[in-house]
Amino acid sequence: MIEDAVSKVILTEEEIFEINKKLGAKITEDYKGKNLLMVSILKGSSLFMSDLMRNIKLPCSVDFMEVSSYSGLTNNGGNVKIIKDLNIDIKDYDVLIVEDILESGYTLECVMKMLGSRNPKSIKICTMVDKPQKRKVEMKADYVGKEIGDEFVIGYGMDYNEKYRNLPFIGIINPKYI
Ligand code: IMP
Ligand code: MG
Repeated sequence: MIEDAVSKVILTEEEIFEINKKLGAKITEDYKGKNLLMVSILKGSSLFMSDLMRNIKLPCSVDFMEVSSYSGLTNNGGNVKIIKDLNIDIKDYDVLIVEDILESGYTLECVMKMLGSRNPKSIKICTMVDKPQKRKVEMKADYVGKEIGDEFVIGYGMDYNEKYRNLPFIGIINPKYI
């Protein structure tokens, strides 16, 4: 069973549902009158993006970007590559980057630098999971679903070696599966 890959549940489906409602309400409030563009960082934020956007009660645009910094392993060496760039010119937009998890900060540092240089009206970060203890560069998310310790988690879009993204909840990976 796929669930066996998790040794401890960090966020249940119900908790994720509530977090999305709360974050969506806050973002709706903060972006009234703005030109919101939600930018999903693939592949990890795909489930979060689709749930979060349904909780934002404003007209908003969406786009997708894929970057890679991992090669199936559980640590980040800090080499970030752009695999798929945005289609939209972000110049007139208030960009909200949607991430699954913020760890070392290398990924978002690179993405922020790249998107920032395209002169958007504003740029902010929303992450479902934050691991502040694992930070290697200064990076702070504006919206955070849940802060956790330094465990490696899977599910709700997050993978280990390209598997387990389809788990509907978030949990710590069972060491037997590493
Ligand atoms: P960072 O560059 O170290 O901040 O890591 C960002 C990316 O690494 C995230 O968007 C995830 O795709 C991946 N990542 C970091 N920690 C985990 C984890 O615990 N489980 C799965 N993926 C992770
Ligand atoms: Mg990611």
